[in-house]
Amino acid sequence: MSGVVPWSTSAALEIISAELASARAFYGDDGVGATAMLPILHGLQRTFGYVPSDAVPLMAASLNVSKADVRGVISFYHDFLHEAPGRHVVKLCRAEACQANGSERIAAHLAAHHALHPGTTTGHVTLQNVYCLGNCALGPAALVDDDLLAGLDERAADLLVARLQQAPK
Ligand code: FES
Repeated sequence: MSGVVPWSTSAALEIISAELASARAFYGDDGVGATAMLPILHGLQRTFGYVPSDAVPLMAASLNVSKADVRGVISFYHDFLHEAPGRHVVKLCRAEACQANGSERIAAHLAAHHALHPGTTTGHVTLQNVYCLGNCALGPAALVDDDLLAGLDERAADLLVARLQQAPK
């Protein structure tokens, strides 16, 4: 991913405090912990490329919530990565319309033939599940970095993975 920086506690604390201040300015003190949680997580992922586990205790202390609360939110949303992503991110749609058109078959193929499992990175490629990309009529759909792909099948998936494993970002 381009534009990301290595983890640092000071950068994380800056993000947390900026989002807390913004939530407080908008909502006042009531419920500020809950309202700031998602903006902070997005800020961390934008900055570091994922949500480092070291950020969890910092967030819990700043938001006055438990570490389990923070982990629960991170694991609920599939878009938050738990480790640094590869150079390329493939978001495969697993929602109903794409399922009906074969996305489960593509997911099984990626796992069996490329060791690509949702939420993990193999080589330069990170695979994530997403639930609707707004391209339902042309599924199975995937977002590959910033490009929307439609009508994936196993052959197209093979070519895609081969290209991404070799391609620079
Ligand atoms: S269900 Fe896959 S794009 Fe909508």
